[in-house]
Amino acid sequence: MTNSLDQIIPRRGTNSLKWDTYPEDVLPLWVADMDFRSPQAVLDALHQAIEHGILGYPIGLHNEPGQRAELRQLLVERMARLYHWEIRPQDIVFLPGVVVGFNLAAHALGETGSTLLVQPPVYPPILQAASNAGMKRQDVPLEPRRNQQGLLHYEIDFDRFEQAINPDTRLFILCNPHNPSGRVFTRHELERMAEICLRHRVAICSDEIHGDLIFSPHQHIPIASLDPEIAHNTITLMAPSKTYNIPGLQFSFAIVPNEEWRRRLETASQGLTSWVNTLGWVAALAAYRDGSEWLQEVLQYLQANRDFLVQWVQNHLPNVPITNPEGTYLAWLDCRPLDLPSSPYTFFLKEARVAFNDGKAFGKEGEGFIRWNFACPRPLLEQACERVAQAVTMKAAG
Ligand SMILES: Cc1ncc(COP(=O)(O)O)c(C=O)c1O
Repeated sequence: MTNSLDQIIPRRGTNSLKWDTYPEDVLPLWVADMDFRSPQAVLDALHQAIEHGILGYPIGLHNEPGQRAELRQLLVERMARLYHWEIRPQDIVFLPGVVVGFNLAAHALGETGSTLLVQPPVYPPILQAASNAGMKRQDVPLEPRRNQQGLLHYEIDFDRFEQAINPDTRLFILCNPHNPSGRVFTRHELERMAEICLRHRVAICSDEIHGDLIFSPHQHIPIASLDPEIAHNTITLMAPSKTYNIPGLQFSFAIVPNEEWRRRLETASQGLTSWVNTLGWVAALAAYRDGSEWLQEVLQYLQANRDFLVQWVQNHLPNVPITNPEGTYLAWLDCRPLDLPSSPYTFFLKEARVAFNDGKAFGKEGEGFIRWNFACPRPLLEQACERVAQAVTMKAAG
């Protein structure tokens, strides 16, 4: 299996955002999907659905037969097994994407002109949610620090976090694991954020889409699993999409123990969001039921890629601070010490023919940074490193 993850599967010409955006000679290590095949169980289930030959509407929101009830039960058991978190089947709201989920949360819980709190640098659509809902955005940046190994590590300044809350603050969008910093927040950090939000009556929407992509010894803790009062104050968003590499199928779910909020979410979505698509159901069920062995192998591969990349940057670009992601498959590099003639995104695209994400899309705190997706076969990762090294050497040589 590990060897098969080394295999480069051509993706150009497959309508892939990652591979078909840039010219052929560019190596794309940007948007967050993986260059690995999904679990065989997922592909088999999809084949079976396609073989049937009719791809009609899936069953409506309020009917609960067959697959949908089975999936709810699977998720209830999954939360109990992984996090000792007791949820009820009816707490789950299926949605066609996590971005849809936090935008709906903003529409449902924040009235026009109220404030939404975010922690940049952060996944760009989280930054846009406030204005989409007619809310004001309040940034409370994570604090970049260097640890003893010289690695970049982001932390929360709790005094600043609390001071950023005003009487109009209605919602905090937490991103945990945090994209792009790769932080997996600790129990202590989550407890402090949750306590401050409860005290100031700020609702939490927790984007946990990367929650299954965690490297030992770190552990994902859904903030809502901390205690029932916090669960009542939280909308948790999860999905099989990053975990099992099926993001194009647009399947996700919210866990909303607060009944009134569940009703508001459903009202906010009326007529505006589509149903979860038919193949998304099929894939999600197969992935959660039969995908765990595949996931363990992919996680090992990702961890080895992470270690390789971090080591490589420390050896070859010793003045470039890089994170050591605790989760996700995204590294975050501070390229400002390279003193490049343009943004690092533009420089590496032009001179190395490697496409990363431009850090400034993640907020002004990300200016001079790049986000590096390392969920690819090792040979591609090595190729990207060589290209980056060569571009930096050429620049230094003038
Ligand atoms: C933190 C985070 N949330 C949400 C998404 C996208 O979610 P979806 O495709 O389900 O809308 C991503 C994708 O990269 C992400 O990193």
